[in-house]
Amino acid sequence: MKGVILHGGAGTRLRPITHNGPKQLIPIANKPMSQYALEYLVDSGIRDVAIILGDLYPQKVKDYYGDGSKFGCRIEYIEQGKPLGIAHAVSLTKDFVNGDRFIVVLGDNLVSDSIERFAKNFNGSDFDAFLLLSHTSHPHDFGIARTSDEGKIVELIEKPKEPPSDLAVTGIYFFSPQIYDHISKLKPSKRGEYEITEAIQSLITTGGNVGYEVIEGWWKDTGTVDDILAANRLVLENIDHNFDDKNIQGKVSIGKDAKISDDSLIRGPAVIGDNVLIEGNAYIGPFTSVGDNCVIRKASIENSIIVKNSVVDTDSIIVDSIIGENTKVMNSTNLKPVGKRMIIGENSIIYI
Ligand code: G1P
Repeated sequence: MKGVILHGGAGTRLRPITHNGPKQLIPIANKPMSQYALEYLVDSGIRDVAIILGDLYPQKVKDYYGDGSKFGCRIEYIEQGKPLGIAHAVSLTKDFVNGDRFIVVLGDNLVSDSIERFAKNFNGSDFDAFLLLSHTSHPHDFGIARTSDEGKIVELIEKPKEPPSDLAVTGIYFFSPQIYDHISKLKPSKRGEYEITEAIQSLITTGGNVGYEVIEGWWKDTGTVDDILAANRLVLENIDHNFDDKNIQGKVSIGKDAKISDDSLIRGPAVIGDNVLIEGNAYIGPFTSVGDNCVIRKASIENSIIVKNSVVDTDSIIVDSIIGENTKVMNSTNLKPVGKRMIIGENSIIYI
Protein backbone atom coordinates (compact mmCIF):
# COMPACT_ATOMS: atom_id res chain seq x y z
CA MET A 1 0.00 0.00 0.00
CA LYS A 2 1.03 3.59 -0.54
CA GLY A 3 0.40 6.71 1.54
CA VAL A 4 -0.68 10.19 0.54
CA ILE A 5 -0.65 13.30 2.74
CA LEU A 6 -2.54 16.40 1.67
CA HIS A 7 -0.52 19.49 2.57
CA GLY A 8 -2.30 22.21 0.59
CA GLY A 9 -5.20 24.56 1.32
CA ALA A 10 -5.34 28.28 1.94
CA GLY A 11 -5.35 28.26 5.76
CA THR A 12 -7.50 31.42 5.68
CA ARG A 13 -8.99 30.93 9.13
CA LEU A 14 -5.53 30.66 10.67
CA ARG A 15 -4.05 33.92 9.42
CA PRO A 16 -1.66 35.48 10.33
CA ILE A 17 -0.03 32.20 11.40
CA THR A 18 -0.44 30.93 7.82
CA HIS A 19 0.94 34.08 6.15
CA ASN A 20 4.36 32.51 5.90
CA GLY A 21 3.73 28.80 5.74
CA PRO A 22 1.12 26.09 5.31
CA LYS A 23 -1.09 25.42 8.31
CA GLN A 24 -0.02 21.79 8.41
CA LEU A 25 3.41 22.94 9.65
CA ILE A 26 1.92 24.64 12.73
CA PRO A 27 3.30 22.70 15.68
CA ILE A 28 1.09 20.69 18.00
CA ALA A 29 3.09 19.68 21.08
CA ASN A 30 6.20 20.94 19.25
CA LYS A 31 5.72 18.76 16.14
CA PRO A 32 4.25 19.97 12.83
CA MET A 33 0.71 18.65 12.65
CA SER A 34 1.39 16.88 9.34
CA GLN A 35 4.16 14.87 11.01
CA TYR A 36 1.44 13.06 12.94
CA ALA A 37 -0.16 12.11 9.61
CA LEU A 38 3.19 10.82 8.35
CA GLU A 39 3.69 8.81 11.52
CA TYR A 40 0.23 7.21 11.21
CA LEU A 41 1.28 5.97 7.76
CA VAL A 42 4.78 4.84 8.69
CA ASP A 43 3.49 3.09 11.83
CA SER A 44 1.07 1.20 9.57
CA GLY A 45 3.98 -0.19 7.56
CA ILE A 46 3.75 2.28 4.64
CA ARG A 47 7.13 3.15 3.18
CA ASP A 48 6.17 5.15 0.06
CA VAL A 49 4.48 8.45 0.74
CA ALA A 50 3.48 11.30 -1.55
CA ILE A 51 3.01 14.75 -0.05
CA ILE A 52 0.69 16.97 -2.07
CA LEU A 53 1.90 20.55 -1.77
CA GLY A 54 -0.20 23.70 -1.97
CA ASP A 55 0.96 27.13 -3.06
CA LEU A 56 1.81 28.53 0.40
CA TYR A 57 5.59 28.23 0.83
CA PRO A 58 5.76 24.59 -0.37
CA GLN A 59 9.57 24.69 -0.06
CA LYS A 60 9.21 24.81 3.74
CA VAL A 61 7.50 21.41 3.61
CA LYS A 62 10.26 19.94 1.44
CA ASP A 63 12.94 21.40 3.71
CA TYR A 64 11.34 19.81 6.77
CA TYR A 65 10.55 16.33 5.44
CA GLY A 66 13.36 16.00 2.87
CA ASP A 67 13.48 12.62 1.14
CA GLY A 68 11.68 11.04 4.11
CA SER A 69 14.66 9.00 5.34
CA LYS A 70 14.64 10.76 8.74
CA PHE A 71 11.04 9.62 9.13
CA GLY A 72 11.48 6.03 8.00
CA CYS A 73 10.00 6.31 4.49
CA ARG A 74 10.51 7.61 0.95
CA ILE A 75 8.74 10.86 0.17
CA GLU A 76 7.75 12.11 -3.26
CA TYR A 77 6.37 15.64 -3.64
CA ILE A 78 3.50 16.52 -5.97
CA GLU A 79 2.51 20.15 -6.55
CA GLN A 80 -1.19 20.87 -6.36
CA GLY A 81 -0.89 24.64 -6.56
CA LYS A 82 -4.30 26.22 -6.08
CA PRO A 83 -6.53 24.53 -3.47
CA LEU A 84 -9.10 22.90 -5.76
CA GLY A 85 -10.25 20.29 -3.26
CA ILE A 86 -9.34 16.94 -1.79
CA ALA A 87 -10.47 14.99 -4.85
CA HIS A 88 -8.33 17.17 -7.12
CA ALA A 89 -5.29 16.57 -4.88
CA VAL A 90 -5.96 12.81 -4.90
CA SER A 91 -6.30 12.80 -8.72
CA LEU A 92 -2.68 13.97 -8.95
CA THR A 93 -1.43 10.80 -7.23
CA LYS A 94 -2.49 8.30 -9.91
CA ASP A 95 1.02 7.68 -11.30
CA PHE A 96 2.54 7.55 -7.82
CA VAL A 97 -0.08 5.04 -6.61
CA ASN A 98 0.41 3.00 -9.80
CA GLY A 99 -2.45 0.53 -9.29
CA ASP A 100 -1.85 -0.12 -5.58
CA ARG A 101 -4.28 0.35 -2.73
CA PHE A 102 -3.55 3.52 -0.76
CA ILE A 103 -4.33 5.62 2.30
CA VAL A 104 -4.99 9.37 2.15
CA VAL A 105 -4.50 11.40 5.32
CA LEU A 106 -5.40 15.08 5.48
CA GLY A 107 -2.34 16.78 6.97
CA ASP A 108 -4.47 18.81 9.39
CA ASN A 109 -6.32 15.88 10.98
CA LEU A 110 -5.19 14.18 14.19
CA VAL A 111 -6.46 11.01 15.83
CA SER A 112 -5.54 9.37 19.12
CA ASP A 113 -5.46 5.78 17.97
CA SER A 114 -3.13 3.96 15.61
CA ILE A 115 -4.56 3.27 12.14
CA GLU A 116 -2.40 0.17 11.65
CA ARG A 117 -5.26 -2.27 12.25
CA PHE A 118 -7.49 -0.50 9.70
CA ALA A 119 -4.66 -0.45 7.14
CA LYS A 120 -4.04 -4.20 7.52
CA ASN A 121 -7.76 -5.03 7.36
CA PHE A 122 -8.31 -2.86 4.29
CA ASN A 123 -5.33 -4.31 2.44
CA GLY A 124 -6.67 -7.84 2.78
CA SER A 125 -10.33 -6.95 2.17
CA ASP A 126 -12.58 -6.63 -0.86
CA PHE A 127 -13.63 -3.11 0.09
CA ASP A 128 -13.26 -0.58 -2.72
CA ALA A 129 -12.94 2.15 -0.12
CA PHE A 130 -13.04 2.33 3.65
CA LEU A 131 -13.70 5.35 5.86
CA LEU A 132 -13.02 6.12 9.49
CA LEU A 133 -16.01 7.89 11.00
CA SER A 134 -16.27 9.76 14.26
CA HIS A 135 -19.26 11.03 16.23
CA THR A 136 -19.44 14.82 16.04
CA SER A 137 -21.48 17.51 17.69
CA HIS A 138 -20.98 19.73 14.56
CA PRO A 139 -22.43 17.61 11.74
CA HIS A 140 -22.97 20.72 9.56
CA ASP A 141 -19.21 21.23 9.30
CA PHE A 142 -18.12 17.89 7.84
CA GLY A 143 -18.87 15.14 5.37
CA ILE A 144 -21.60 13.07 7.07
CA ALA A 145 -22.34 9.38 6.47
CA ARG A 146 -25.56 7.38 6.50
CA THR A 147 -24.71 3.78 7.28
CA SER A 148 -26.42 0.40 6.97
CA ASP A 149 -26.73 -2.31 9.61
CA GLU A 150 -24.37 -4.44 7.50
CA GLY A 151 -21.45 -2.09 8.13
CA LYS A 152 -21.62 -0.34 4.76
CA ILE A 153 -21.87 3.33 3.88
CA VAL A 154 -25.14 4.02 2.09
CA GLU A 155 -24.86 7.76 1.54
CA LEU A 156 -22.37 10.57 2.07
CA ILE A 157 -23.31 14.25 2.19
CA GLU A 158 -20.82 17.11 2.37
CA LYS A 159 -21.72 19.64 5.08
CA PRO A 160 -25.43 18.74 5.11
CA LYS A 161 -28.12 21.25 6.08
CA GLU A 162 -30.11 18.37 7.58
CA PRO A 163 -27.55 15.82 8.75
CA PRO A 164 -28.79 12.22 8.47
CA SER A 165 -26.53 11.19 11.38
CA ASP A 166 -23.77 12.52 13.63
CA LEU A 167 -21.12 10.38 11.93
CA ALA A 168 -18.44 12.61 10.41
CA VAL A 169 -16.02 11.45 7.74
CA THR A 170 -12.57 11.94 9.30
CA GLY A 171 -9.62 12.89 7.15
CA ILE A 172 -8.31 9.34 6.83
CA TYR A 173 -9.44 7.50 3.69
CA PHE A 174 -8.54 4.02 2.42
CA PHE A 175 -8.88 3.67 -1.35
CA SER A 176 -8.49 1.21 -4.18
CA PRO A 177 -7.43 2.76 -7.51
CA GLN A 178 -11.09 2.65 -8.63
CA ILE A 179 -11.57 6.01 -6.93
CA TYR A 180 -9.69 7.74 -9.78
CA ASP A 181 -12.47 6.88 -12.30
CA HIS A 182 -15.03 8.51 -10.02
CA ILE A 183 -12.89 11.59 -9.39
CA SER A 184 -12.50 12.11 -13.14
CA LYS A 185 -16.29 12.49 -13.49
CA LEU A 186 -16.63 15.22 -10.82
CA LYS A 187 -17.68 18.81 -11.37
CA PRO A 188 -16.69 21.56 -8.91
CA SER A 189 -19.04 21.86 -5.92
CA LYS A 190 -20.74 25.05 -4.72
CA ARG A 191 -17.57 26.00 -2.88
CA GLY A 192 -15.61 25.56 -6.10
CA GLU A 193 -13.81 22.38 -5.02
CA TYR A 194 -13.67 18.82 -6.31
CA GLU A 195 -15.18 16.97 -3.34
CA ILE A 196 -13.85 13.56 -2.38
CA THR A 197 -17.21 12.97 -0.66
CA GLU A 198 -18.90 13.12 -4.08
CA ALA A 199 -16.36 10.75 -5.63
CA ILE A 200 -16.99 8.20 -2.87
CA GLN A 201 -20.75 8.70 -3.26
CA SER A 202 -20.38 7.94 -6.98
CA LEU A 203 -18.46 4.77 -6.08
CA ILE A 204 -21.32 3.74 -3.75
CA THR A 205 -24.02 4.54 -6.33
CA THR A 206 -22.34 2.37 -8.94
CA GLY A 207 -22.28 -0.63 -6.60
CA GLY A 208 -18.89 -0.07 -4.95
CA ASN A 209 -18.23 -1.75 -1.64
CA VAL A 210 -17.53 1.05 0.85
CA GLY A 211 -17.00 0.05 4.47
CA TYR A 212 -16.43 2.03 7.61
CA GLU A 213 -15.57 1.86 11.25
CA VAL A 214 -16.42 4.41 13.93
CA ILE A 215 -13.21 5.25 15.74
CA GLU A 216 -13.25 5.04 19.51
CA GLY A 217 -10.59 7.58 20.47
CA TRP A 218 -10.58 11.28 19.71
CA TRP A 219 -10.35 12.91 16.28
CA LYS A 220 -9.54 16.55 15.63
CA ASP A 221 -9.74 18.56 12.42
CA THR A 222 -7.66 21.66 13.11
CA GLY A 223 -9.34 24.40 11.08
CA THR A 224 -9.31 27.14 13.72
CA VAL A 225 -7.10 28.46 16.52
CA ASP A 226 -9.39 26.86 19.10
CA ASP A 227 -9.16 23.50 17.29
CA ILE A 228 -5.37 23.75 17.33
CA LEU A 229 -5.28 24.53 21.04
CA ALA A 230 -7.67 21.62 21.64
CA ALA A 231 -5.45 19.26 19.61
CA ASN A 232 -2.44 20.52 21.59
CA ARG A 233 -4.24 19.69 24.84
CA LEU A 234 -5.19 16.21 23.63
CA VAL A 235 -1.64 15.37 22.51
CA LEU A 236 -0.03 16.78 25.67
CA GLU A 237 -2.25 14.52 27.79
CA ASN A 238 -0.28 11.59 26.36
CA ILE A 239 3.11 12.63 27.72
CA ASP A 240 4.18 9.73 29.86
CA HIS A 241 6.95 11.30 31.93
CA ASN A 242 5.57 12.42 35.27
CA PHE A 243 7.61 14.90 37.35
CA ASP A 244 7.16 15.53 41.04
CA ASP A 245 9.85 18.19 41.60
CA LYS A 246 9.59 21.54 43.29
CA ASN A 247 9.59 23.43 39.99
CA ILE A 248 8.52 20.79 37.45
CA GLN A 249 5.24 19.06 38.20
CA GLY A 250 3.05 16.59 36.32
CA LYS A 251 3.33 15.37 32.73
CA VAL A 252 6.16 17.39 31.25
CA SER A 253 8.61 16.75 28.44
CA ILE A 254 11.81 18.79 28.58
CA GLY A 255 14.08 19.20 25.55
CA LYS A 256 17.86 19.00 25.30
CA ASP A 257 19.79 21.86 26.95
CA ALA A 258 16.61 23.52 28.23
CA LYS A 259 17.23 25.59 31.38
CA ILE A 260 14.58 26.23 33.99
CA SER A 261 15.49 28.60 36.82
CA ASP A 262 14.77 27.50 40.39
CA ASP A 263 12.28 30.32 40.88
CA SER A 264 10.20 29.29 37.84
CA LEU A 265 7.47 26.65 37.77
CA ILE A 266 6.30 24.29 35.05
CA ARG A 267 3.06 22.50 35.72
CA GLY A 268 2.10 20.00 33.04
CA PRO A 269 0.86 18.74 30.78
CA ALA A 270 3.46 20.78 28.94
CA VAL A 271 6.28 20.37 26.46
CA ILE A 272 9.42 22.47 26.54
CA GLY A 273 11.64 22.34 23.44
CA ASP A 274 15.44 22.18 23.06
CA ASN A 275 17.54 25.15 24.22
CA VAL A 276 14.61 26.85 25.90
CA LEU A 277 15.32 29.26 28.72
CA ILE A 278 12.64 29.73 31.36
CA GLU A 279 13.58 32.19 34.09
CA GLY A 280 12.64 35.17 36.21
CA ASN A 281 9.81 33.65 38.19
CA ALA A 282 8.06 32.43 35.04
CA TYR A 283 5.14 30.01 35.17
CA ILE A 284 4.34 27.56 32.39
CA GLY A 285 0.92 26.18 33.18
CA PRO A 286 -1.11 23.21 31.89
CA PHE A 287 -1.53 22.59 28.15
CA THR A 288 1.32 24.76 26.98
CA SER A 289 3.90 23.95 24.29
CA VAL A 290 7.08 26.00 24.14
CA GLY A 291 9.09 25.49 20.94
CA ASP A 292 12.87 25.17 20.54
CA ASN A 293 15.09 28.17 21.38
CA CYS A 294 12.35 30.18 23.10
CA VAL A 295 13.01 32.43 26.07
CA ILE A 296 10.22 32.81 28.62
CA ARG A 297 10.98 35.40 31.27
CA LYS A 298 8.61 36.49 34.07
CA ALA A 299 5.48 35.53 32.13
CA SER A 300 2.73 33.13 33.16
CA ILE A 301 1.45 31.09 30.25
CA GLU A 302 -1.41 28.59 30.08
CA ASN A 303 -3.20 26.67 27.34
CA SER A 304 -0.98 28.17 24.64
CA ILE A 305 1.48 27.38 21.89
CA ILE A 306 4.67 29.41 21.68
CA VAL A 307 6.34 28.55 18.38
CA LYS A 308 10.14 28.22 18.17
CA ASN A 309 12.64 31.08 18.38
CA SER A 310 10.27 33.42 20.23
CA VAL A 311 10.77 35.56 23.31
CA VAL A 312 8.07 36.21 25.89
CA ASP A 313 9.48 38.65 28.42
CA THR A 314 6.62 40.29 30.28
CA ASP A 315 4.82 40.27 33.61
CA SER A 316 1.56 39.48 31.88
CA ILE A 317 -0.50 36.32 32.10
CA ILE A 318 -0.91 34.80 28.64
CA VAL A 319 -3.75 32.35 28.01
CA ASP A 320 -5.34 30.54 25.05
CA SER A 321 -2.79 32.00 22.64
CA ILE A 322 -0.72 30.97 19.65
CA ILE A 323 2.45 33.03 19.37
CA GLY A 324 4.10 32.47 15.98
CA GLU A 325 7.72 31.76 15.15
CA ASN A 326 10.35 34.48 15.80
CA THR A 327 7.95 36.66 17.76
CA LYS A 328 8.68 38.94 20.71
CA VAL A 329 6.14 39.70 23.43
CA MET A 330 7.71 42.30 25.70
CA ASN A 331 6.89 44.39 28.77
CA SER A 332 5.49 47.85 28.08
CA THR A 333 6.21 49.24 31.57
CA ASN A 334 9.45 51.00 30.60
CA LEU A 335 8.04 52.65 27.50
CA LYS A 336 7.90 56.44 27.16
CA PRO A 337 5.21 57.53 26.61
CA VAL A 338 3.59 54.82 28.72
CA GLY A 339 1.33 52.59 26.64
CA LYS A 340 1.02 49.35 24.73
CA ARG A 341 3.28 49.16 21.71
CA MET A 342 2.51 46.79 18.85
CA ILE A 343 4.33 45.88 15.67
CA ILE A 344 1.99 43.30 14.27
CA GLY A 345 1.04 42.06 10.85
CA GLU A 346 -2.13 41.76 8.88
CA ASN A 347 -4.91 39.58 10.34
CA SER A 348 -3.41 39.57 13.85
CA ILE A 349 -5.73 39.46 16.85
CA ILE A 350 -4.71 41.05 20.13
CA TYR A 351 -6.63 41.17 23.41
CA ILE A 352 -5.19 43.92 25.68
C1 G1P B 1 -12.99 17.94 4.47
C2 G1P B 1 -13.98 17.01 3.78
C3 G1P B 1 -15.03 16.55 4.79
C4 G1P B 1 -14.37 15.89 6.00
C5 G1P B 1 -13.31 16.84 6.59
C6 G1P B 1 -12.49 16.12 7.64
O1 G1P B 1 -13.65 19.13 4.84
O2 G1P B 1 -14.56 17.69 2.70
O3 G1P B 1 -15.88 15.62 4.18
O4 G1P B 1 -15.34 15.57 6.96
O5 G1P B 1 -12.40 17.31 5.59
O6 G1P B 1 -11.56 16.97 8.24
P1 G1P B 1 -12.94 20.58 4.75
O7 G1P B 1 -11.85 20.58 5.77
O8 G1P B 1 -12.42 20.70 3.36
O9 G1P B 1 -14.03 21.57 5.05
